[in-house]
Parts: sequence; structure tokens; C-alpha cells
Amino acid sequence: MPDALTLSDLHVYHGDICAVRGLDMSCAEGAVTALLGRNGAGKTTTLSAIAGLLGTRQGHVELFGKALGGRKPEAICKLGVGLVPQGRRIFPSLTVQEHLAIAFRRPRHAAERVYDVAAMETLFPRLKERRRQLAGSMSGGEQQMLAIARALVTNPRVLLLDEPAEGLAQQIVAEVAEAISELKRAGLSILLVEHNLPLALRLADTCVILSSGEVVWRGAPHILANDSDLMAQHLGVH
Ligand SMILES: Nc1ncnc2c1ncn2[C@@H]1O[C@H](COP(=O)(O)OP(=O)(O)OP(=O)(O)O)[C@@H](O)[C@H]1O
Ligand SMILES: [Mg+2]
Repeated sequence: MPDALTLSDLHVYHGDICAVRGLDMSCAEGAVTALLGRNGAGKTTTLSAIAGLLGTRQGHVELFGKALGGRKPEAICKLGVGLVPQGRRIFPSLTVQEHLAIAFRRPRHAAERVYDVAAMETLFPRLKERRRQLAGSMSGGEQQMLAIARALVTNPRVLLLDEPAEGLAQQIVAEVAEAISELKRAGLSILLVEHNLPLALRLADTCVILSSGEVVWRGAPHILANDSDLMAQHLGVH
């Protein structure tokens, strides 16, 4: 059985700037893989490249063994990659319902679960209460829940989460974390970028640390949690 996601020798540029240099990593099926690193390390660039929003100059991305290279974002989404972008990127003038209706796509593969609007309203009861509300008038936490739900209703095989806890109050972080735990329990494969280290360590099965676009460490969360030098050097945690 291939990994859910495999990145091999991935190089991604912004113009002439090489932001990801020769990245090798994989995400096991049904696991949470945390991609960590300081600001500017290349985390968002990596997720954008997987989702097809940025071209890759060298290297490969494979989803369950199928090469994604050169495809457009819509095609990559159809094949089963769901992205929750940093900063949420919701549409302020659309309602919750409209976001989910536009994004919904039946699973292509024989799936045990279908993430539809009803499933999202069970996962995030706040979204049910706000079904007809314009997303721009919702709180940051509600917008984040909507961004996650919007990615889930595409029925992805791999979910890419870019800083889901960013800028949220602690209580809301707990709600979002519980939802991610539930997705993990349901067997979804997740690649999580997160600056909230306690949260990332709690959710992750394995961790990869990037620095200047290169992998500087990979291993189990409990090993990282007990290595204060490593956390200080590469994550700025003292
Ligand atoms: N649109 C862009 N144009 C030029 N350079 C960019 C662009 N986006 C990112 N970069 C550069 O690429 C590098 C990696 O950025 P990236 O956004 O991937 O980092 P990150 O790890 O997600 O950081 P953060 O934790 O702050 O979100 C940085 O040096 C950044 O300045
Ligand atoms: Mg980022």
C-alpha cells in the first residue's frame, strides 16, 4: 500500500527565490503528519505546491502512488487533495450554505464516509446555526470551521491544513482541535502545518521540521517534545 502522499526531491520557487529545496517526505495513510518550522521555512509553499497552486521546478508529488505533477488545482482537488489555506480565504459575501454547496463533490473512491453538509453540521454545530449567515460577518473561529468544512465536502483522500489554529481564542482552538482529532479517528490522512506546538504534538503521529526549505529533522512527536535544544533551534520555542 503506497503512502497517502509522497514528496520526492521537491523544489519550489517564488520567482527566482527557491523556497523549498529538495524536500523528501511522506504522509502515511490515516495518520497526521505535522510539518513544522519557523516563519518563512517553506511550509505554505509546500502545501501550495501539493495543491497545484504553485508549479514545481523539480521533483514529484504522488497521491496514493499517482503522480500529480503538472496538473491544475481543480484536477488535483478532484483526485482527492483538500486544502484549508492559511488565512482561511473564505468568500465574505457568500453564506455558509453557499460555500458548502459550491465545494461539494461526491467521493470518487468507494468511501466509508461521505462528508456532506449534514456531516459538517454534526462536526461543527456552529455552522448549522449560521447556515444562512454571510461568512464575512462570522467570527474568525467560525470562518476557520467553514474553511475546514469547505475542504472536507470535496471528500478528499488527504487533507492539507495550513495553520488552523492561527489567531483563534483558546476555546475555539480546542473545538478545532477536537474536530481534527475526530477526522483522524475516522481514518483521514492529514498533513498539518501548525505553529501551536503543543497542539501539533498532540495531534501528530509524526513530525517533519523544515528550515530554509530543507528538512532538518523528522521523527516522533514525543521525541521532539523532549528535545528542548531542537525546539529552540528550529522552532524558536524556549
Ligand atoms: N508570493 C511570494 N513571493 C515571493 N516570495 C515568497 C512568496 N511567498 C513566500 N515567499 C517566500 O518563500 C519563503 C517561504 O515562505 P512560506 O510562506 O512558504 O513560509 P511558511 O513556512 O509558510 O511561513 P509562515 O510560518 O510565516 O506561514 C519565505 O522566504 C517567503 O518570504
Ligand atoms: Mg505559512
